[in-house]
Amino acid sequence: MKDQINKAKENSTKEIERCKSLKELNDIRVKYLGKKGELTIILRGMGALSEEERPVIGSLVNEVKEEIEKLIQEKAEQLEQEQLNEKLKSEVIDVTLPGKKVKRGSKHPVNRIIEELEDLFVSMGYDVVSGPELETDEYCFERLNLPKGHPARDMQDSFYITSEYLLRTQTSAVQARAMMANKEKTPIRIVCPGKTYRRDDDATHSHQFGQIEGLVIDKNISLADLKGTLEIFVRKMLGDNLKLRFRPSYFPFTEPSYEVDVSCFKCGGKGCNLCKQTGWIEILGAGIVHPNVLKMNGYDPEKYSGFAFGTGLDRLAMFKYGITDIRLLYTNDVRFLKQFDRKDEENEIKY
Ligand code: DAH
Repeated sequence: MKDQINKAKENSTKEIERCKSLKELNDIRVKYLGKKGELTIILRGMGALSEEERPVIGSLVNEVKEEIEKLIQEKAEQLEQEQLNEKLKSEVIDVTLPGKKVKRGSKHPVNRIIEELEDLFVSMGYDVVSGPELETDEYCFERLNLPKGHPARDMQDSFYITSEYLLRTQTSAVQARAMMANKEKTPIRIVCPGKTYRRDDDATHSHQFGQIEGLVIDKNISLADLKGTLEIFVRKMLGDNLKLRFRPSYFPFTEPSYEVDVSCFKCGGKGCNLCKQTGWIEILGAGIVHPNVLKMNGYDPEKYSGFAFGTGLDRLAMFKYGITDIRLLYTNDVRFLKQFDRKDEENEIKY
């Protein structure tokens, strides 16, 4: 029996030494120490031994069992450490490798203009509002003093969807919406930047373009308020020392109406190709809100007055950044857009 025990000790020691995985190690444990393991069977057979032999063999078996357990434990620790080292080696990160460069997008020039205008008008107490691009004939025209059949409708070639719905031709449609929503409750001070659509398709026009509309309604609003506001607007956007010129014009929703010119920011008014030698560049439509418009949209023209203005965002962007072809704003050529991937001040054209 002693031989059997020593043999088990010898074999298990060798096996443990050769063992390469925790799974194998566990099999060895089962083989010698498990319920049906070699040493367990020896222990169970001890009943057949004489009384003198029993304690000698018993303690030998226990000694060997402890030794095997110790060897297994040590081997397990060694294998675990090896496994960990292996894992660390395979997961090593070289922090000195250069990172991948992510290409940044850039803000579209028209969006830059919109943000700048919103900041400016919010700083003067205006709200920024929006309206539907699919608009009704009623809000786009009728409530702006342009009844069906009015000749001035021809000024704007419209995309009609049905006889009542069209793609809005002008952000002026939000004027009526703002008035109808408010109806004398509080003064109105809004700007609305947004997309507009017309059936223009020549080289200088796009069927979709951007406009910004402004509307102020309160008691005692006069032309002086309009002039002062537009001066701040134009000078902030295009240059501090510019002059404004108000030319009488016609818009159905304002009376009097004006087209507003700005002294040419390229030549300073002397005449150049940008201003077509006139010294002036047309920049806005504006006027005092027509009494009919006030009345139709819930305001008493005897008590209230207001001014309105509207201008093209694309034109502003083109002037501000010296862009000569409007199509560049809509074709999304990354080589063009990338030029705006810098700070605003750097992009501004110094005329
Ligand atoms: N809606 C006009 C257009 O698209 C521009 C305009 C002119 C807006 C005069 C106004 C205004 O608010 O008072 O041509």
